[in-house]
Amino acid sequence: MRLLFIGDVYGKTGREMVEQYLPRLKDFYHPTVTIINAENAAHGKGITKKIYNRLTELGADMITMGNHTWDNREIFEFIDDAKQIVRPANFPEGTPGKGLQMFPVNKIHVAVINIQGRVFLPAIDDPFRTADRLVSEAREKTPIIFVDIHAETTSEKLAMGRYLDGRVSAVIGTHTHVQTADERIFPGGTAYLSDVGMTGPYNGIIGVERAAVTRRFLTSMPVRFESEEGSGQLSAVIIDIDGQTGKAKHIERRLINDDHPFFE
Ligand SMILES: [Fe+2]
Repeated sequence: MRLLFIGDVYGKTGREMVEQYLPRLKDFYHPTVTIINAENAAHGKGITKKIYNRLTELGADMITMGNHTWDNREIFEFIDDAKQIVRPANFPEGTPGKGLQMFPVNKIHVAVINIQGRVFLPAIDDPFRTADRLVSEAREKTPIIFVDIHAETTSEKLAMGRYLDGRVSAVIGTHTHVQTADERIFPGGTAYLSDVGMTGPYNGIIGVERAAVTRRFLTSMPVRFESEEGSGQLSAVIIDIDGQTGKAKHIERRLINDDHPFFE
């Protein structure tokens, strides 16, 4: 079983990159399962119903979120009925939506879990103990478990990867928007990458307009963050998983931008 995960889709440029390259990536890699992090898909802030529908129409089996989950209020209208979206599982009790979703692919179930870190991010429930609980729940049905750890620090993500090694198929980081080069498979069979990277404006500062970010750093004044214009980037990771054991066999990262053009 092959899993394709596309990182942090940011605004219109990110959505256009998915439109343009997801079909080509599917032709090239033939993934069994496609997962997309889309917490920044609506103008950098959250997701709308229309975007959710379009991403699933394009072939995303599951959408993962993060700290920007609630930024676009449209989500409250559809998250409870949407079967192809997970928000961080360790949001406090009473929060709409789910942090674990399972779906069948060729008679095998795939579980997708979204977890948010707490270092330099809002204080929410314990990501590690929440992961324990959800991984046990998922493992009753399937050994194929994908975890999107949406966190700021590599240490918290790496700790999660090691903590879940042998219990899940992959722990892949999102949120920092810069792809890391530390892909590996841990001894227990869990594929790991600290951050898959962003799908959005290639020439911005993690997606945002450069001038505004620079002004903020120079003056500490509040500024309005808009997406940077110009060419786009797509960040992804491809993971091969043994359908019987749920253990990862291969992990490969992928970056498509002006400096790393797509090849076939
Ligand atoms: Fe984020």
